[in-house]
Amino acid sequence: MRILILGGTWFLGKQLVLDALQRGWEVTTFTRGRSGTPPEGAEHIVGDRTDVDDLHRLAQAGPWDATIDTSAYDPWSVLTVLQTLGEGAGRYVLLSTVSAYQSWPVRQVSETSPLWRSRIDARETDPDVAELEPRFQYGMLKAGCEMAAQTAPGGTLILRPGVILGPGEYTGRMLTLFDRARRGGRWLLTDPDRRIQPVDVRDVATFALDRVEDGSTGAYNVVAPQLGHATYRDLITACLEVTDGTAEPVWVAWPWLREQDVKQWTEIPLWRVDVGTWEVDHRKAAAAGLVCRPLAKTIADTWADYQERPPVEHSRQAEHGMDPAKEAHLLAKWDQLQRRAARG
Ligand SMILES: NC(=O)c1ccc[n+]([C@@H]2O[C@H](COP(=O)([O-])OP(=O)(O)OC[C@H]3O[C@@H](n4cnc5c(N)ncnc54)[C@H](OP(=O)(O)O)[C@@H]3O)[C@@H](O)[C@H]2O)c1
Repeated sequence: MRILILGGTWFLGKQLVLDALQRGWEVTTFTRGRSGTPPEGAEHIVGDRTDVDDLHRLAQAGPWDATIDTSAYDPWSVLTVLQTLGEGAGRYVLLSTVSAYQSWPVRQVSETSPLWRSRIDARETDPDVAELEPRFQYGMLKAGCEMAAQTAPGGTLILRPGVILGPGEYTGRMLTLFDRARRGGRWLLTDPDRRIQPVDVRDVATFALDRVEDGSTGAYNVVAPQLGHATYRDLITACLEVTDGTAEPVWVAWPWLREQDVKQWTEIPLWRVDVGTWEVDHRKAAAAGLVCRPLAKTIADTWADYQERPPVEHSRQAEHGMDPAKEAHLLAKWDQLQRRAARG
């Protein structure tokens, strides 16, 4: 196999490169070169996907059996890539997201749930896109990327992961959880029994490349099983174990926490009250061969990887975590509430 990866230096892209090279495939990567180089063994072409001249230069390195696009955030750019590479792109594999579903995270979603209304040539800078809340903007643009990807002459495979964790994770979720576990003291947490579905980056890469190999098309949610995979408590326990952290979880009631001024998903990473957050149907991907390793293994390997090298720097890292003074204030408020309740 000869594949092109649009991306390849941060997280999933890098894992795809490593896995494909291990399979003995020829790999070309295309990035701006801002975040370093891909793993050794891949052909690296430096260029910007929004620059048509750079794309023409890339096209000369083709053709490929498949193109895996991990860096698509703008439908217009997917269209331009496809128009420039033409049949040379081979099958087009788009890394989309569950955020492309209009009802995620409010309701359960499966592959047939409606996506955000979008346009095949939408751009982040279009006035109607720019006025959307960032999380809706992301979903609407990814839905447009999916529309654009469907124009690929060699066929299209759409992968919609939920939260991806694992070695190299850079959004700040794991960095924050590990730091908090190690800082010690009372740790404000909630909803311990909520089932969660993070998927390991290595399992996403394996699934993607297996599907490239077997010629699959269509769309798949790439998430861990809803049942029997892990709970939020399992995530916290694993973070404490691997870091030898001394923090003591204080599990407060989530309806109370929701009423406080706490930013869900970031101040407490991966906590969100919407019922559909972790109700993403994984059965189609499982039937096609997605195998998810235990969450504890993902967390242990992520921690081990951070000891070797820090993840790529990213602006999202600053969004995560809670100011310690705010956490102490909320814990004191919770204690007071508990004392009052005990007094009746
Ligand atoms: N992380 C999650 O939890 C999650 C969940 C659901 C879906 N996803 C999706 O999964 C995909 C994987 O993301 P990733 O960050 O792991 O992928 P990645 O391929 O490891 O990183 C993105 C790559 O794109 C390159 N890039 C960015 N802008 C570019 C441009 N204008 N022209 C050329 N190259 C450009 C970056 O390198 P340079 O900066 O050096 O150019 C980098 O190599 C994304 O599409 C994301 O939407 C992620």
